[in-house]
Amino acid sequence: MRVPDDLERVLISGEQLQARVAELAAELEAAYSEGDRPLLVCVLKGAFVFLADLVRHIEMPHEVDFMEVASYGSGTASSGVVRILLDLERNIQGRHVVIVEDIVDSGRTLTYIVRNLRTRGPASLRVCALLTKPARRECELDVDFVGFEIPDEFVVGYGLDYAQAYRNLPFIGVLKREAYSPSP
Ligand code: IMP
Ligand code: MG
Repeated sequence: MRVPDDLERVLISGEQLQARVAELAAELEAAYSEGDRPLLVCVLKGAFVFLADLVRHIEMPHEVDFMEVASYGSGTASSGVVRILLDLERNIQGRHVVIVEDIVDSGRTLTYIVRNLRTRGPASLRVCALLTKPARRECELDVDFVGFEIPDEFVVGYGLDYAQAYRNLPFIGVLKREAYSPSP
């Protein structure tokens, strides 16, 4: 696919993504026994592409469910004030739950989700994030499975958006600064 003009560069190619997602699926399977039937909780909307590719490499019995949260904040930073827009369909009590997230930035959104799901009594709760920006972390947070550590830049593609655009790109790209911050 053509690289849009608003991108500064491609950070992770489609081939790199596909290879790493297959490895993540293997790491995930290795962490469970067949009878565990883990429940993968996809955090909408950003993680939908990642989840779709991930489950196609998971051979053990598992289920998927979806959750959508909104974090108040400016265009490119979250405030930590989180609202649940769509909650899980399933009761997760006694279940082995894996939260599947696109990117951990400050960690506020995921910290909220982890705390919330923990109150529901899962048998275990793990986190699988395609991307993390360690330089931006503000919350103490264990991420059990990480695809790629990336620098402190705003990225789009492979499910990640800016103002709902670019989710369709099969690669991860860095958005040009002028595409999201008004010029002085
Ligand atoms: P956090 O609460 O600061 O960790 O922000 C996490 C959420 O912010 C992610 O689930 C994304 O929706 C969004 N986000 C953070 N960084 C980026 C980025 O570089 N590109 C696109 N979305 C991002
Ligand atoms: Mg998100």
